[in-house]
Amino acid sequence: MPPFTDLRSDTVTRPTEAMRRAMADAEVGDDWFGDDPTVNRLQDRAAEVTGHEAALYLPTGTLCTQIALHAMARSGHVVVCEASAHVCGMELSAAAVLSGITFRPVAGRSGVLSGAQVAAALEPHPYDVTVVDLVTIENTHQVGGGTPQSVAEVADVARACAEAGVPLYLDGARIFNACAVTGATVADYAGQVTAMMFCLSKGLGAPIGSMLTGDAEFIREARRLKVVFGAAWRQAGIMAAAGLIALEEGPKRLHEDHENASVLASGIAEVLPGSIDLDSVATNIIFVNVGGTGRTPAEWAARLAAEGILVTMVAGKIRMLTHRDISKADIETTLAAWRRAAA
Ligand SMILES: Cc1ncc(COP(=O)(O)O)c(C=O)c1O
Repeated sequence: MPPFTDLRSDTVTRPTEAMRRAMADAEVGDDWFGDDPTVNRLQDRAAEVTGHEAALYLPTGTLCTQIALHAMARSGHVVVCEASAHVCGMELSAAAVLSGITFRPVAGRSGVLSGAQVAAALEPHPYDVTVVDLVTIENTHQVGGGTPQSVAEVADVARACAEAGVPLYLDGARIFNACAVTGATVADYAGQVTAMMFCLSKGLGAPIGSMLTGDAEFIREARRLKVVFGAAWRQAGIMAAAGLIALEEGPKRLHEDHENASVLASGIAEVLPGSIDLDSVATNIIFVNVGGTGRTPAEWAARLAAEGILVTMVAGKIRMLTHRDISKADIETTLAAWRRAAA
């Protein structure tokens, strides 16, 4: 293991021994031809877990969403999203370049949109000049603080979409984290939306890969777009083998990441009172507002790095994510480092 505590993201986990063995032993074919048996098993399993008709295995969550946008929204048309969502922050340029899409961002409460907000955003333009083709939501909402949304909240948005006749897409990069808090199943959420994606390579701990799911016709078109966008990987079963383990085993332990995040957040709130809204730390993501400490986020990040703690800076705050490779002992080490950095 590296000589640092890596809290930059939940994507940094190393494959487990079981994953490495499964990858070495994976039965493979050529996924361009659709005959990689391990990829096909993973896709069948993702369809089963979501209750959607079909699923497609792709290298990244970004590619899942970009393919969905391309399939569901026309160039020059509008996608409604939450204002700090990944889709209109990190993926803004991708959507512009690949699909010619503009966004109508709506600021939600900690990243959560209400049905009323979405209904207002879907009011038809009086002269039919701008047309909304799609609504997207993100659950959990990353920049919102890892905010989980209940099925009722998603259903509220889904109703507004259905009334306007507009499809709803779920960026469920961390949907299993939401399920660990709300007790709902992924299928409960998937049943509310037209299509969704979830990541195997975040909290679930796979080295690579995300799943795009929806009805059979949508996935047929998504498969075509996968080739168009240059992602027709071949013996991808080597990765899918680890993905299958992540999908079965990963969800079972997410509550540990949430508990670790809660302990870390409480400890930092003691070191820097007022820097964290503890009620907002419900999953594995912590934002620390270091404004008013006399140091910039970059200075804090540098001090922590000198102590062997890796963090990121997002939205003017320090961001940390707990994950499978972060133990209770790492949380204590991290808290000690915060105390020294604050001294
Ligand atoms: C909420 C959310 N959606 C989508 C993505 C994109 O996933 P990927 O890094 O696999 O492209 C991320 C990545 O961090 C994310 O946090």
